[in-house]
Amino acid sequence: MRVLVTGGAGFIGSNVVKLLDSKGYDIIVYDNLSTGYEKNLAPYPHVQLIKGDVRDKDKLCEAGRKCEIIFHLAASVGNIKSLKNPREDSEINVTGTLNVLECASKNKIKKVIYSSSAALFGEPQYSPIDEKHPSEPDSPYGVSKMAGEKHVLCFGQIYDISVVSLRYFNVYGTNQRYDAYGNVIPIFATLLLDSKSITVYGDGNQTRDFVDVEDVAVANVLTAEKKGLSGKFNIGSGKSITINELVDMFKHVFPAAKVNYSPPRRGEVIHSLAKIDLAKQNFGYNPTKINTKKIEKYIIWLKSETAKK
Ligand SMILES: NC(=O)c1ccc[n+]([C@@H]2O[C@H](COP(=O)([O-])OP(=O)(O)OC[C@H]3O[C@@H](n4cnc5c(N)ncnc54)[C@H](O)[C@@H]3O)[C@@H](O)[C@H]2O)c1
Repeated sequence: MRVLVTGGAGFIGSNVVKLLDSKGYDIIVYDNLSTGYEKNLAPYPHVQLIKGDVRDKDKLCEAGRKCEIIFHLAASVGNIKSLKNPREDSEINVTGTLNVLECASKNKIKKVIYSSSAALFGEPQYSPIDEKHPSEPDSPYGVSKMAGEKHVLCFGQIYDISVVSLRYFNVYGTNQRYDAYGNVIPIFATLLLDSKSITVYGDGNQTRDFVDVEDVAVANVLTAEKKGLSGKFNIGSGKSITINELVDMFKHVFPAAKVNYSPPRRGEVIHSLAKIDLAKQNFGYNPTKINTKKIEKYIIWLKSETAKK
């Protein structure tokens, strides 16, 4: 089966491609390589990469010809990044998603699987967060991911197409690189590998639901293979840990790690935990939990990446 993966050269996209490739799918990746890497696709010689922007509707529609499913992961990612350029964030994440839907319509595609984000919830009003939790995003990124999701779900109500929105919590794992707006795991790993100290903002008792990117890839493929499935689903691990517990996992690998504590940063959610029962019931999602071995595995990957430079 031929499928289109937008953003397939990125962190999560390349892990989705890896799993799809192992299952024999015919894969077209559509990516402008703004934050993705061609080398992420090097292990999959059968995968065709089309370099293009989701804002270029005609090129996107052309790339989607003869595809049966679209996995839409391409996005401008991150709350802080979106504060700097909310218009571009919206053009890529909202208009880009509308273009994906038009591409689906034009090419008579059967299913669109949208990568949504827990950022659309804003500050949690209760925990664990289920799919009925209000969406009160507090960043342009959260707003754009929410609007993209609404367009996708609305499209599914109007047309004869399955639409699935997967709301990822804090994803970590292979191919996740440190950047200016990066997540805590690549930041800690990069600094500690460089023998630098790490900083915890606040008292470290804030919690996060870290989900392994391999589980996120499985969720994408399970939803693709479940006939007629539509709806929005939380994709976390279903368990949260404190940042202090995460630090302890890193200390297992780096016993001499130096940890500084700084005042909390404004706008950061204190607690985040996904209720994942709906995904479990609807498509048998059964994620793993973060542990020291997984942190070790990530550090080994990051080390090998750094050695290649
Ligand atoms: N990483 C997380 O923890 C997380 C959490 C929630 C949701 N998500 C969502 O998952 C998806 C993938 O995120 P990621 O973490 O892999 O980020 P990423 O930046 O590694 O991947 C995004 C990919 O999209 C491509 N891209 C960006 N703008 C594009 C454009 N205009 N046209 C075509 N391609 C473009 C990039 O080159 C990159 O390959 C995004 O939709 C994001 O909103 C990620």
